[in-house]
Amino acid sequence: MNSPCDNDRSIKSNHDNESMALEARNLNKFWESQAGKVIGVTNISFSVRKGEFVSIVGPSGSGKSTLLNMLGALERPSSGQVFINGTDIFSMNDSQAATIRNKSIGFIFQSYNLINRSNVLKNVEFPAIIGGMNKSERRMRATKLLNFLGLKSKLKSKPSNLSGGEQQRVAIARSLMNNPAIILADEPTGNLDTKTGADVFGLLKLLSNKFKRTIVMVTHNPELAANTDRSIHIKDGRIEKQVKNFGA
Ligand SMILES: Nc1ncnc2c1ncn2[C@@H]1O[C@H](COP(=O)(O)OP(=O)(O)OP(=O)(O)O)[C@@H](O)[C@H]1O
Ligand SMILES: [Mg+2]
Repeated sequence: MNSPCDNDRSIKSNHDNESMALEARNLNKFWESQAGKVIGVTNISFSVRKGEFVSIVGPSGSGKSTLLNMLGALERPSSGQVFINGTDIFSMNDSQAATIRNKSIGFIFQSYNLINRSNVLKNVEFPAIIGGMNKSERRMRATKLLNFLGLKSKLKSKPSNLSGGEQQRVAIARSLMNNPAIILADEPTGNLDTKTGADVFGLLKLLSNKFKRTIVMVTHNPELAANTDRSIHIKDGRIEKQVKNFGA
């Protein structure tokens, strides 16, 4: 990682474990509201090995998105730590954390989160604009990714003119733009029909198997979860159990 803080040992995990891509340690998230304290997640700890494909499952409101957002440093925990490739991400200021997030993590969301006033190509280029990649390089890379994902004829289209599956493939291309080691996906197949959802999941499997990405995917689909290496079951903001999925 080319972070200005790479050599600062004080923010490195004291777990001497180079094989971990992500670690959550005693994570808690709550909000104060007029009705009282709202619990997001409570005392969550687990690690994800480099190259592992983990699913997070559990009922609606159990804290899955809250957890994923903290793993990706989109949201600060009330207490606890997240280590991304050994770096304690919340010990950094927001701009340092954003730099690491931009380089190390690709996000995929249920509702795609594409920018409709920009065309497909520009949407995919966006993380590289933030990352400072020069224009010709990012244009070439975005075009390559979109070709790879079967969207060659859609470069100039507006996202809203694409099907759901196409929009999610654009979002996958965008998540890969800065070549992140880690991909976090929050119900990436949630808005798609079964066949299109299976195709999108197949792409994530390809990224896992062939390109050795570390993936954490929230899903309500038990079949897809069973096809990941490990499922973490969340209930009422806590880890209920973890299941290793043999033959995934
Ligand atoms: N910004 C917020 N302010 C207050 N409460 C919140 C906030 N975000 C989430 N919550 C609450 O935290 C709990 C967990 O929400 P979360 O979105 O993580 O659930 P989820 O497991 O992702 O659910 P779903 O499967 O429906 O997406 C819920 O009770 C939710 O209302
Ligand atoms: Mg959610």
